[in-house]
Amino acid sequence: MKFRAIMGALCAAGLMCGAASAQAAESLSVLHWWTSGGESKAVGVLKDDMQKQGYVWKDFAVAGGAGAAAMTALKTQVISGNAPSAAQIKGPLIQEWAEQGVLVPIDSVTGDWKANLPPQIDKIIQADGHYVAAPFSVHRVNWVWINKAALDKVGAKPPTTWAEFFTVADKLKAAGIQPVAAGGQPWQDLTLWEDVVLSQGADFYKKAIVDLDQKTLTSQQMVGVFDTVRKIESYMDNGRTGRDWNLATAMVINGKAAMQFMGDWAKGEFANAGKQPGKDYICAPVPATEKAFTFNVDSFVFFQQKDQKAATPGQLALAKTIMTPAFQEQFSLYKGSIPVRLGVPMDRFDDCGKRAYADEQVAIKAGGYVPSLAHGMAQRDATAGAITDVVTKFMNSTQDSKSAVEALARAAKTK
Ligand code: BGC
Repeated sequence: MKFRAIMGALCAAGLMCGAASAQAAESLSVLHWWTSGGESKAVGVLKDDMQKQGYVWKDFAVAGGAGAAAMTALKTQVISGNAPSAAQIKGPLIQEWAEQGVLVPIDSVTGDWKANLPPQIDKIIQADGHYVAAPFSVHRVNWVWINKAALDKVGAKPPTTWAEFFTVADKLKAAGIQPVAAGGQPWQDLTLWEDVVLSQGADFYKKAIVDLDQKTLTSQQMVGVFDTVRKIESYMDNGRTGRDWNLATAMVINGKAAMQFMGDWAKGEFANAGKQPGKDYICAPVPATEKAFTFNVDSFVFFQQKDQKAATPGQLALAKTIMTPAFQEQFSLYKGSIPVRLGVPMDRFDDCGKRAYADEQVAIKAGGYVPSLAHGMAQRDATAGAITDVVTKFMNSTQDSKSAVEALARAAKTK
């Protein structure tokens, strides 16, 4: 056993955590936004692992789904010269931080990564030819979470088209059940909107959201997308403004509402509440998106520390641990995601996890594997922010779909 590991074991056992070992133990300050029940359990696996390796974990959790508040806190920390050792950052934002010259490469621990990651993901976590981020897992965003008892009560099946969806929603309403649970926060609005964009086909999604093609953005089909969003909205409750996503999930778990549009971190909440897929709840792809998969990959980047030129031993150990098969498996089991590392066995995963994995393979082959805009995978911050504003303004006003589409086309030009 290495010295650091011995000290870690002693410390974990409540012995020798004092001055003698303080010098040896490197502190890792970790900024993330994993604060719900399932999320905390998942990040707890990493914390325990790092402590066992002899590092001190300084948790910097900033509550707020999709990380907007965490990103503001991060900017303040970096500007004031207190950059964390690691921070939860993903997608094009990795490049944006790398361009600031504040990240450290972690190449020395990434020997087998390329061979074990989907090429699209392998590219995202590199900047200037160097690995700068360690990926955790793949979340599928285009899911609907359904309370099974509510669905059974109205004798319905999970809807596979919007027409079916509205029929089911009407039946639920007639039975006195709130059809849709939602939280009125900008990123949740955008999550629903991108689901409806995806329901028009993966090609439409790619043209609109990845290529920002003006013809697609201003099309009659896009007007129809806003119309559908408006209609779905009419099945949500009035108390949704500002509600956190996990509280909306709790409404579905407790049968206060029947369905929620949300990525599979929602499954972490069902699992944490002891609920089982197929028995208590159903995971169904968003209507008309069965063959597609909106991906959202969480990762940690590593910031240059004071008086250090390169990544510290603790930062390298963190990156290495995140990509080990055992960690990948346990993290995703709690988080509701699937491992990003290829070849991790799926037998301990539930039916929703297995389905996510199978659907991911189909989507990759069929060209339906697309990056989530609402979760920072598709566009740079400024563009994504401008589009979010358009969608959230629409959902919080009586604006008509045509003028929302005009605003969308303008927002897409934001650089
Ligand atoms: C993150 C997830 C997180 C969710 C809710 C997403 O953007 O990728 O890890 O669970 O936001 O906070």
